[in-house]
Amino acid sequence: MKVSTTVSKAVRPYQKDQDMLIQILLDLQTKFGWLSREVLAEVSGQLDVPVTRVYQIASYYKAFSLVPRGRHIIKVCMGTACQVRGSPQLLNTISAMLDLEPGETSEDRRFTLDTVNCLGCCAMGPVLVIDDVYHSKPSTPDLKKIFKAAK
Ligand code: FES
Repeated sequence: MKVSTTVSKAVRPYQKDQDMLIQILLDLQTKFGWLSREVLAEVSGQLDVPVTRVYQIASYYKAFSLVPRGRHIIKVCMGTACQVRGSPQLLNTISAMLDLEPGETSEDRRFTLDTVNCLGCCAMGPVLVIDDVYHSKPSTPDLKKIFKAAK
């Protein structure tokens, strides 16, 4: 499907309401997994909002990515409680297993590795979240299983 058609489908339910720009970008982020220049330009044109404004919003909020992301998003909590409980070692293990540094996406776009500050479940730490599923204190064999299951 052409980008213009996909953007048109995202804009239509909001009746081209410029105040819905963030929601439209969220919908497109979910649809594409990231926001390309082409998508931002198309949103700008269809909503009649300057592309600089669209880019400003898309680059400000952490919910948006301006680079391609993996199909599976891995988040390792690096909040204080998780750090005390071993999240730096967990991050190193994952980084070595997947050959990824935090913020990177694998070439096959299977995984993106991110760090976060606190997931609100400190007693479970160190915590890893992949595709919104929480894992408490995963061992190396656990990690192998988790990553193998994520196709
Ligand atoms: S510090 Fe990791 S969940 Fe709170």
